Amino acid sequence: MVSSSGGGDKKKVGYGSHQLKKADTKHYVETQINTKFNGTKLSLLIKKTMSRPELLKKYGVEKYDLHPNYEFPESVRDMIPSNVPEYITPPGKDYIKQIIRALYYFKQCALIGPSGTGKTHVVYFIAEITGLPIWEVNCGLQTSTYDLFGRYIGLGKENWIDGQIISWCRDGGILYLDEANMMKQDIAARLNPILDTRGHIVLTEKDNEVVKRHEFGYVIISMNPFSSEFVGTKPLNAAFRRRMSVWLTFDYLSVGTNISKEEIALIQKRSGVDEDTATKIIKAGAELRRQYQTGDLPYGPSPGDLMNWAILIADGSDPITAANESIIGTTSDDLEIQDTVRRIITTFFS
Ligand SMILES: Nc1ncnc2c1ncn2[C@@H]1O[C@H](COP(=O)(O)OP(=O)(O)O)[C@@H](O)[C@H]1O
Ligand SMILES: [Mg+2]
Repeated sequence: MVSSSGGGDKKKVGYGSHQLKKADTKHYVETQINTKFNGTKLSLLIKKTMSRPELLKKYGVEKYDLHPNYEFPESVRDMIPSNVPEYITPPGKDYIKQIIRALYYFKQCALIGPSGTGKTHVVYFIAEITGLPIWEVNCGLQTSTYDLFGRYIGLGKENWIDGQIISWCRDGGILYLDEANMMKQDIAARLNPILDTRGHIVLTEKDNEVVKRHEFGYVIISMNPFSSEFVGTKPLNAAFRRRMSVWLTFDYLSVGTNISKEEIALIQKRSGVDEDTATKIIKAGAELRRQYQTGDLPYGPSPGDLMNWAILIADGSDPITAANESIIGTTSDDLEIQDTVRRIITTFFS
């Protein structure tokens, strides 16, 4: 039997190809609280699990506690990511602090940027370092209202299971709405009241139960920028737009002739290619991204895509053969487009 607040089907929290393990409960932060109760002095020592306290310090976000004096129940602790690879902050940016600060003051924020610029990665990274469970919904996929809100799985009132969004309302953490601009209008309309920070949602499918948004329930939405440069993008629902107080724009680490040393170092470190090869990979990737942004290619490679290419080169393939097996296919199945990509890559490796 499934209880009414059981949280539905919980999937293992994974990010990319990395299998994430349950939060390491070795790390915790202690807070001493001195108070008085009926004239008696009380001293409370609160121990709270924090996956990676050293990172809170590194990013200067220790003062933004996103669940003060609150430990998430055992039932959702598996939803807190762990061992997320470190996110490389582009030079001159301070995304991690900006996002955590936005959540602290406004409970929600929006990330705008083309795919592959690390939006999902940064959200998982932040969930880990702040110790928040994460509920991810990809609005571009045909997700049913059952999956999002819940349903009865048999006869009898006790057989209700909550969907992702209702689980988030009850248990708290980060609701991550990826490709939020692709959300179907009827679902967006139902979500509006819950995007008010003291909001609630009415479960019409369950005797109009009113479910309040958890005190430590945060929302992050992400989407591709809406512009003529990005084919297939849609503007965000106006009500959603009004409810987001902070907007952060993401871009690739390297694009066009703007080459990031950090991204070269990332490729070198994670694949084992030499610096010269890593530089060529990044330069070729940056040119492909530029052409994606101008609408000449259907896709721009992410750091992860460039990494796959680099791994094959490090294993002994020549760069073009390795590209054929990886980055060229990733861009498109259209043979003509594949030829264009191959030509661009060859100019950097001839
Ligand atoms: N700044 C970064 N630091 C480390 N890895 C990154 C960064 N940006 C992107 N990546 C990697 O590139 C891939 C795509 O990133 P992802 O977060 O899925 O992009 P988005 O959600 O913006 O489409 C992932 O493998 C991710 O780990
Ligand atoms: Mg994403």
